This record gives sequence, C-alpha cells and structure tokens, in this order.
Amino acid sequence: MCGIVGYIGTKNALPMLLDGLKRLEYRGYDSAGVAILRDGTLTVQKKVGKVVELEKITPEKSFTGHIGIGHTRWATHGEPSDINAHPHVSNDGSIALIHNGIIENYQVIRTKLEKQGYIFKSATDTEALVHLIEEMKKVSGDLETAVRLALRQVDGTYGIAVVSSKEPDKIIVARKGSPLIIGVGDHEHFVASDAAAIVQYTRQVVYLEDGEIAVLTKDKFETKTIDNVEKIKQIHEVTFDIEEIEKSGFDHFMLKEIMEQPETIRNSTRGRVLLDEGNAKLSGLRDVMLLLENAQRIVITACGTSWHAGLVGEYMLEQYAKVPVEVEYASEFRYRNPIIKPNDVLFLISQSGETADTLAALREAKNKGASVLGICNVVGSTIARESQGGVYIHAGPEIGVASTKAFTSQLIVLSLITLLIARQRGTMTIEQGRIIGKELLNLPDKVQTILKDTSEIEKIAEEFKETSNFLYLGRGYNFPVALEGALKLKEISYIHAEGYPAAEMKHGPIALIDKNMPVVVMATKDSTYDKVISNIQEVKARKGRIIAIANDDDDQIHSLADHVIKVPQTVDMLSPIVNVIPLQLLAYFIAVKRGCNVDQPRNLAKSVTVE
Ligand code: G6P
Repeated sequence: MCGIVGYIGTKNALPMLLDGLKRLEYRGYDSAGVAILRDGTLTVQKKVGKVVELEKITPEKSFTGHIGIGHTRWATHGEPSDINAHPHVSNDGSIALIHNGIIENYQVIRTKLEKQGYIFKSATDTEALVHLIEEMKKVSGDLETAVRLALRQVDGTYGIAVVSSKEPDKIIVARKGSPLIIGVGDHEHFVASDAAAIVQYTRQVVYLEDGEIAVLTKDKFETKTIDNVEKIKQIHEVTFDIEEIEKSGFDHFMLKEIMEQPETIRNSTRGRVLLDEGNAKLSGLRDVMLLLENAQRIVITACGTSWHAGLVGEYMLEQYAKVPVEVEYASEFRYRNPIIKPNDVLFLISQSGETADTLAALREAKNKGASVLGICNVVGSTIARESQGGVYIHAGPEIGVASTKAFTSQLIVLSLITLLIARQRGTMTIEQGRIIGKELLNLPDKVQTILKDTSEIEKIAEEFKETSNFLYLGRGYNFPVALEGALKLKEISYIHAEGYPAAEMKHGPIALIDKNMPVVVMATKDSTYDKVISNIQEVKARKGRIIAIANDDDDQIHSLADHVIKVPQTVDMLSPIVNVIPLQLLAYFIAVKRGCNVDQPRNLAKSVTVE
C-alpha cells in the first residue's frame, strides 16, 4: 500500500505529482505529501487527509520545480498525521524520502541513530531510513552509494524514491517487495507504484525488480543491483488508455466497474473458448499443460475477494477435472510450513498481482519445488512476472477499492482453466464442454439484463440502509458468493455482514434471526435449489426477512421471500458470475444511501503490499 510518484524533466513537476497521487489513492489515502527541488532548494509539503487537502496547501506558483516526488499513505507505523506523512526529511534538511513498505528493523536503526544524535520527529519506520541515508552519505559522499549502503542494512520491504538538494539533478529509486516502475519520456523520467499514475504522460515503462536501484536524470536512467552490479532493463509498452482509469460520467469507479461487467466478461473470454471442441485455449498455460495433466493436487492461494474466486474455482475443478483442490488464504499458507509435493500445482489469484501475502506464498511454494501459476489482472505485476505461467483476466484497470469486475473475470478464467484441464484429463465430455463454452459466451448478455434495471435493488437498499446486521446464505457454488456479498457490504457500507453456507446456519447464526434480520439467500435453480428453499423456510419460521436472488421463471419464491431479485439462469458452475452482480449493486446502493465513500472506504486499500 501507499502510492509513490516522481518526476524529473523539463516541465513543472507539481501538477503531474498531484495528478499521479490522485490516481494512486486506491493504494492509501490517509495523508499525502510532496517534495520539490528548485534551484538546489528542497521544499516539502505534507498534509493529513486525501490528496485534495495537500493540493489546497500547495499553490502551483509557490511550488514550481522540475524535479519532485509525491506520496499517498496508508498508515502502518504511526497514526495518520501531518508529521507521519511522507516525504520524510533528513536532519540536515537536504534529503527527502518517500517509502512504500515496512522497514522491519527500524527500531534497531532508530535507537542506534538516536545515540549518534539524530532527532526523530515521526513515529514511522520510514524516518529511520532517511536518517540512515544521511549517515551513509557522510561515509560515501554521494547519494546513490549512500542509498545502496543504507538499503543493505534494512530488513523488510520497500519501494522508495529519494531526492537531495545537494545532488539536485537526480532521483534515486529502489525496490524490494513493493512495486515500482520507471516511466521513460522525452527528456523526462517518471517513477510510480503503478502505471495508472503516469500513463497519460508516457506508455514506455520499465519494471524494477526486487533488489534493484535506479538513478533517474532528465535524459537517462541507470539500473544496478543494491550490490552495485549493472543491470540492463527492457522497456515495455503499457496498453491501457487513460479513459479506462477515468470515471466516464459515473458517480463512482465502483459503479462504473459494476456496469462494465458485460464488456469485461467478454474481454476475459475473447478468443479463449473453442466451441466446436468443447474446450478452452489459454496460451499462458501452453507450456505447463503436462504439469496440469499430471498434477495430483491443485492449491489455490489468494486474499480477499480473490480468495472467494478461488473457492468457486475449487468447486469447478473438483466437479469437472476431478483433481483434489485446496484453497487457502495466502497469509496462512506462507506461515504454516505447508506440505508441498513435487506434483502439486499452485495457482495464485491476485487482481493487483502485488498483494504481499500472495507474493510471499508464491515464493514459499516455488522454494519448495511446486509449479506456480498466476491469475492476475495487472499486466507485468510482480506475481505475473514471478509465475511460471498463468492467465491474465483482462478486466482492465480496477480502481474502486472493493473488487467487482475483477471477481467476475477471475471466475471466467477459472472456468476456462477447468474446461482445459477437464478436457485434457478426459473427465469432461465434449458435449459438457460445449454447453459450458456456449454459456460462457452468453454470460455478457445475461449480466446485462440484471444491470439494465436496478430499481428493485435500489428499493431494497432504501429499506435496509439503516440495518446493522446482514446474513448472506448460499450453497455449493453459491456459498462463496454469499461470502463475497457479505464482504462487499462490510467493506463499503460498514454494516456487519456474515456469509454462511445455507445449511450451516442451523449451527449458530440461526440464533441471530428475528424480525430485524435481513437474510440474503442465493436461491437460483441449481442442484441445491430444494435444500435452499428449506433453509428459507427455517428463516421465515423465525420471522427473518428474506431477500432472494432467484431465477426469472421462479414463481414460488414470491410467496416465501419478502423481496426477490430476478437473475437469468445459467449452468450451475457459472451461476456465481450472474448471482454476484445484484449483491455488488445492493452493497453499492446501501453504501451510497448511508453517505459512505464507496471508492475509498475507511481503513482499506486496494493493493495490500504489507503483511
Ligand atoms: C484488498 C482489496 C480487496 C482484494 C484483496 C486482494 O483487501 O481491498 O478488494 O480482494 O486486497 O487483492 P488482490 O489484488 O491480490 O486480488
């Protein structure tokens, strides 16, 4: 988390820094700051709150300069405040540093430097690094060597950018565990946590690897390892457009991203369904097909919404590919010394491709000899690059902190992977493959019919907007959808919500049911339908208020449910893709009606690059 942006060139840096920071706010938004160099003078301004607060106190005419760095923070060490905001400045006032990550041994460094007379102003881990750089500069004389020497003493993760008034023609950047890219322009260079911050200025980017450091000047960039070995880097082209990261007339990114789903589902599917053969084509898995065919077990690890997608994937793969699947939170997987056998294949699902726990799980599994495959959205992200193969979901940039379109695209990709493995293993017939393939191609239209008229969902949102608890129930493929629906509501409306397997309700949550408890039930016509109807009866008998997600042709549901949201029917395996749409909308409308900031919910960040 935290967003980093920097500029060196011939133009005024500040407007580009502020613009870049606004685009990076999904990474954190509790405080922001900039450092600008002009004629050898360093000016730093920082402010608690969103980037607009910083903007108010940095009038363009007083902050001109062709070199600058900016930061938007998600607090880890030290509360959100002006003092704890980045940039942090060295005691001699010459060096400014911005940082994304955690310096784990900061306390040891701090104590040592304090004994040497350094004064600390903030409660952050980052400040230890800027003073350490100042100290190293006394030894090395130049900024680049000082940064390298300092980084060799820190444990933890970092993406950093450093400027100094004593060497006012460069920005030093480095990464270990936190994403950082260099943007290459015409007599100008950029640095950013993510291409979204700079894509309107340049599409030429260089992905910095862990353990690399780069020196950016107006006309060139040089990359080395922190052990001072030169590295030649390749320049890549960013393919998305600026329009994709704009709101395009929608009130919120989240709503835009929900509404985009017919198109994003189409993009995830495009060219990948082989209808005649009842199969799928995924070029990123071509080289690992043998591995997949022989896999004795598939492990899926992920966090948050991506983990919910993984749970649906487990149901799909076990039903059709007949391979045992385990789904585990990446944060648990990495620390419990998991048993990995040589024929295990690990899928990492991550929208951002940068989530620290998921990345650590990838490295842990790789070290233990497993084959690791990524399912990512962000092209060129660390997980995508460190995987041995994988599939991009092609959902386009997702800015709203609560994931929506990435989830449905992850499910599309998991169903394509299921087709591929099941057909390869001979556990799915060509007819079954054709039916699923055809339905995959029908999904955009089916999703569109839900999005066409959201008035019923808005009405339900109005009725329940003041409720303080919600229960979400589903069975089989739709149990993970219940979890995802509850997560969406919690994340953006701050209403407590729990997702449960419908039958498991009897073992606890049923005690909570009374006339005030709304219960959202996935009641579409799949193999568990009759059982779900019985669960609805159990809720009704205790006066709970049922909001049912049901199929268009289901007439009996009206006599049981207080509210019915109709969705088109599809095959069981793909029903989560359809059924989650009304849950995303319900969470969205409730949050808006409660006056919550849906795109930037409190305490959350989109890309969690700390443990
Ligand atoms: C954060 C986001 C979630 C996301 C999760 C995993 O918690 O707020 O929306 O699902 O991280 O992120 P990833 O990028 O790995 O899918």
